[in-house]
Amino acid sequence: WGKEGHFMVCKIAENYLSEKASRAVSDLLPSEAGGDLASVCSWADEVRFRYRWSSPLHFVNTPGVCNFKYSRDCHNSKGETDVCVVGAINNYTAQLQSYGGDSSGNDLSESLMFLAHFVGDVHQPLHAGFAADEGGNTITIHWYRRKSNLHHVWDVNIIETAMKDFYSDDLNSMIEAIQMNITDSWSDEIDQWQTCRSQSVACADKYASESIKQACDYAYKDVEQDSTLGDDYFYSRLPVLEKRIAQAGVRLAAILNVIFCGDSAVS
Ligand code: ADE
Ligand code: ZN
Ligand code: ZN
Repeated sequence: WGKEGHFMVCKIAENYLSEKASRAVSDLLPSEAGGDLASVCSWADEVRFRYRWSSPLHFVNTPGVCNFKYSRDCHNSKGETDVCVVGAINNYTAQLQSYGGDSSGNDLSESLMFLAHFVGDVHQPLHAGFAADEGGNTITIHWYRRKSNLHHVWDVNIIETAMKDFYSDDLNSMIEAIQMNITDSWSDEIDQWQTCRSQSVACADKYASESIKQACDYAYKDVEQDSTLGDDYFYSRLPVLEKRIAQAGVRLAAILNVIFCGDSAVS
């Protein structure tokens, strides 16, 4: 996601944090954040070049298939294992579980900012895309009259157009609308969003599996090199995108609530 997408995910998450988790998050946030998790949700994109190792942690790609398999897909271009967004979520979740105890030299403030960002990213369908087109980055298209690429359409363009057409360019209105859907139309699905079979704190495998499925069913569907995408694509994909933002926010809060649930860990 771009800045707006990540901001929405973290704003939604803030509404679902337990008191304990809120306190831990405030304690871990850098002072620039002014106590607001959403203000640092794009930090990981700002350090993408300073911390070059972090660049492949924003996504995972498959070899052209519509399913995700950790052992097959979670590696970087050099084949180093666990280097992908799913591995990163597991890693930063584990690091944060040492909060209050021995953090083994990890900067937990950075761990929190990475985790909040990557839980957002793994919900962007094309952040679990095909390796051959770099998650849609090499598919050039026109978004209405402007040149863009398919990846950027999902990171930024759909959100921008929705803001302009429906929310008078006010991000808070868009967040409120998504929040309203969570409490109304999607309320009976929330429990399922927050759980998975494997019982790990974060269900990152599940999030990536959902994303590649949606990448195939919605993002890549009916799109070719040099397609022009407009109203049809926008109106049919916006609801999918809004639900992904909602799921990312609710799940980020659920993960943080479990991480920071108990008493301080003993070292
Ligand atoms: N670079 C290569 N693949 C990518 C993806 N799926 N998302 C973002 N950046 C990428
Ligand atoms: Zn992206
Ligand atoms: Zn990212």
